[in-house]
Amino acid sequence: MHEAGFLLMKIVRKNNLLAIPKRGKPPLILYKMRFKLSSFFYGLPKIPSEIMLEVTSRCNLNCQFCFNKLLYPAQGRKSQELSTANIKKIIAKIKKSKVPIVRFTGGEPLLRDDIFELMDYAHQEGLKVWLNTNATLITRPIARKIAKHVDNILISLNAHTCVSERYLTGSDTFKSKLKGIILLKESKVKHLRCGTVATKANIINLEKIYDLVKRLEISDWELFRVIPLSDKNIAIDNNDIALLVEKMLRINKIANKNYKIANAIPFCAFDPQRVSKIALGAVADDGHIRFVINSTGNARPMYYLNEHIGNIFEDGILMMWNNKFMKKIRALRYVPDACRGCKYMNTCKGGSRVASKIIGGDYRALDYLAQPHKYKAHLK
Ligand SMILES: C[S@@+](CC[C@H](N)C(=O)[O-])C[C@H]1O[C@@H](n2cnc3c(N)ncnc32)[C@H](O)[C@@H]1O
Ligand code: SF4
Repeated sequence: MHEAGFLLMKIVRKNNLLAIPKRGKPPLILYKMRFKLSSFFYGLPKIPSEIMLEVTSRCNLNCQFCFNKLLYPAQGRKSQELSTANIKKIIAKIKKSKVPIVRFTGGEPLLRDDIFELMDYAHQEGLKVWLNTNATLITRPIARKIAKHVDNILISLNAHTCVSERYLTGSDTFKSKLKGIILLKESKVKHLRCGTVATKANIINLEKIYDLVKRLEISDWELFRVIPLSDKNIAIDNNDIALLVEKMLRINKIANKNYKIANAIPFCAFDPQRVSKIALGAVADDGHIRFVINSTGNARPMYYLNEHIGNIFEDGILMMWNNKFMKKIRALRYVPDACRGCKYMNTCKGGSRVASKIIGGDYRALDYLAQPHKYKAHLK
């Protein structure tokens, strides 16, 4: 079936049967038909690639940009947490649904006393275990346990000095974070990555953060555009994006690396050709390939996309995956009209639907960083 599909799509493409007219936007019906055809023949993901499990809402840091500041007070930041037994039930459900990866996140997951028991259980169930951590609580014994239990670890690294760390996280934890990373490296953890949330405060110091990444011998570094959920004032603007993109291109060239912005950012936030070289687009964002279950069992599409899509104790994983909102996200129904016809649309997906909702008031609004009219000629 799929082979026939590919052949048919080839004929359709070769003969330009679904071509977008040169002038103006394609009619919506044609646009929808193109999407339906390609999703039918190429297949949208039938199951999520991973489940991010927020095993606690507690955290030892207080990062100024953290989306949890807005989301957790609603639950009560010190609110009830799921018991060990209930998290094991969730893990068993993930396994049953054939999702291959469970990512332990939070809050700070290492604050849970039973975290390694949970990871061990996930491994026994045959799942890959991923971990998001701020790395400030890591001692040598903990590093060894992480090396044993974790297949992939993402550490938040947002600053290059004690002062900037205190400014961004509200804590004097810079040294303990560096120590944690060194201990993890010494314990030979399997796949260690560091992630930097790009804010106005640290884009100017990007080269210095990169120097730290180099000195710590971290080979995988990724950047995230800050999603201004906790406070609209922390939103970055198009000048910040231009600076970030130029700095990343320079670092990638000098270091012969391919560092990327891993969450959604509109390619037309700046010169789209240049942005497309360092941005992964929205492919792994906004619920397109995975979703989050929080510390009370409620599910939402993405860390910072707070749309209720079910509760794990009432709904199955696939039910949540195929929830109406999730289907609409994957079908690009929330992508703004201004993006129709753009050559980057399938990757960029119009930037962040969350940013659109926060700043523009609507999931279908243009991402506030997008400038399709300014870069019209580059987008066709
Ligand atoms: C909320 S943290 C939880 C795990 C752990 N405490 C940590 O610091 O990595 C999960 C990830 O979300 C990122 N993050 C938090 N707030 C964000 C925001 N407003 N925009 C983009 N990423 C954000 C963090 O940097 C981290 O990589
Ligand atoms: S027009 Fe839309 S899809 Fe194209 S680069 Fe801009 S935001 Fe992305």
